[in-house]
Order: sequence, then C-alpha cells, then structure tokens
Amino acid sequence: MPQEHVQAGATVAEQRLPRHVAIIMDGNGRWAEQRRLPRYMGHRQGVKAVRRVVECCRKRGIEVLTLFAFSSENWRRPPSEVGLLMDLFVRTLRKEVARLHKNGVRLRFIGDRSAFDHKLQSLMNSAEEQTAGNTGMILAIAANYGGRWDIADAARRLATRVAAGELRPEAIDTELLGRELSITDLPEPDLFVRTGGEQRISNFLLWQLAYTELYFTDLLWPDFDAAAFDEALRSFAGRQRRFGKTGHQVEQDEGA
Ligand code: IPE
Ligand code: IPE
Ligand code: MG
Repeated sequence: MPQEHVQAGATVAEQRLPRHVAIIMDGNGRWAEQRRLPRYMGHRQGVKAVRRVVECCRKRGIEVLTLFAFSSENWRRPPSEVGLLMDLFVRTLRKEVARLHKNGVRLRFIGDRSAFDHKLQSLMNSAEEQTAGNTGMILAIAANYGGRWDIADAARRLATRVAAGELRPEAIDTELLGRELSITDLPEPDLFVRTGGEQRISNFLLWQLAYTELYFTDLLWPDFDAAAFDEALRSFAGRQRRFGKTGHQVEQDEGA
C-alpha cells in the first residue's frame, strides 16, 4: 500500500509541493479541430493556458516551471503550421516578457536555438538577459528541444575536452555528463504533467525525468486551468518517492 501523504481535507497550500514542474502542453490542435477552427487557434488559446499556469505556479511558490513549447521533431509539421507557431512565439515574447519581468520571473530557453531566425533568437537572448537578475520563479521554455539532442550535445562537449587533453575518458560518469545537460543546475523535475491524453515522453527531458513523478490528463492544453493544475499537485502529494529504496526506509527517513 503506498503511504498516503495527503491528509483528508488538506489544502494545496498545506500539501507537499513539487519544487520543479515540467509540462508537455499537448492538445492545442485537437482543441481547435473539435470546434472546427484552424489548428492555429488552438495554439493561440494555448498561450492563455500558459499565462494561467505560470500564475498558479507563482502563487503556489513553485520554484521552476519547464514548458515544452516546440520539439526538435515539430519541424516535421506542415510548413504553414510551423510558420504560424514561430510568429506566435515572437508575438508572445514581445507581449509577455515585460510582465514576467515585473513579476520577478527569470526566463530561460533550452534547446538548439540556432535553428530559429535571427529575430526570434535575439528576442530569446534579450528576454534571458533582461530577467537574469530576477529572484522569483524560473520559467524554462523548451524550444527546438529534444532529450536526445540534449544528451548528444553534452557528450560532444565532454568529447571536446577529452580531445583537448583536459579530461580523462575514465573520469566521465553520470554526474559529469549530467552536469553538461540543460537545466541540471536547477532542481530535478519532481512532477511531469502531460495534457492531451497521450501517455508518452515525446523526446522531452529524457535524462532529467529519471525519477520524476508522471501525471497524465485527458484535458487538452487550452482547457488546462488552475483546478486541473491543483489536481496534478494533489496527485503528486499523495505519492511516495522511493528513489530505489523500500517504502519502509522512506518512512523511517521521513520520521527521522
Ligand atoms: C501541442 O499541441 C503544441 C505543439 C506541439 C506546438 P499539438 O499541436 O500537438 O496538438 P494536437 O496534439 O495536435 O492536438
Ligand atoms: C510534444 O507534443 C511536443 C510539444 C508539446 C511541444 P507532440 O504533439 O509533438 O507529440 P507527439 O508527436 O504526439 O508525440
Ligand atoms: Mg500533439
């Protein structure tokens, strides 16, 4: 029997909270198609859901929120959809960064940004620079991101150091490789959420999700609201994280 951590009637504020939540925001296209709207309208509606969830995280005191905005495989979509997504990305950054900054949010982008056009790259760079000194929540946006790319990129950097004679191959271990990856300077994701009904990782944070609690919901991303987010937090609070130990050991550690 998993240990029940949530007391009956405990409010979200009283529960054990994740420090880092990572979300695959899926289902925008279907949200639009169900309404006989162009898929693009679903992406636009999805931006509103992003705003809501960022606010929820800030209110709840979650330290890091990582959002999967565009995967390295999403280039395979029709060029018209990719183009509209890029335009939306640019417009959203122009519109939202000032407010995020005012709210003390620190923005980060992970993924290979060299594939984006210069206008978008410079918006990403300046959003990071502008918010770098903020001490509030960290919002990491994964754009042209792939978990396999992340690991390959880390391996390439270590290989370069080996080739330069700065590193012995025997010194490479999980800790050293892990340190070269995206966002490993931040707490590991505690809770992973995927909307849209699909139960897969789709090349998101492969390494970083090793011990993350997974939560899937059929809600489409534009319908994901504060109540749905709190439901995910409640599910998280009810889980026992063992990290390879026995449940009994974990209870003893917690009692200590
Ligand atoms: C997620 O929604 C947003 C991106 C991948 C950019 P989708 O566009 O994948 O929505 P569905 O899965 O087709 O409904
Ligand atoms: C994952 O969603 C990527 C993002 C949400 C940005 P997809 O809709 O691209 O995933 P698959 O193709 O269904 O696995
Ligand atoms: Mg999808």
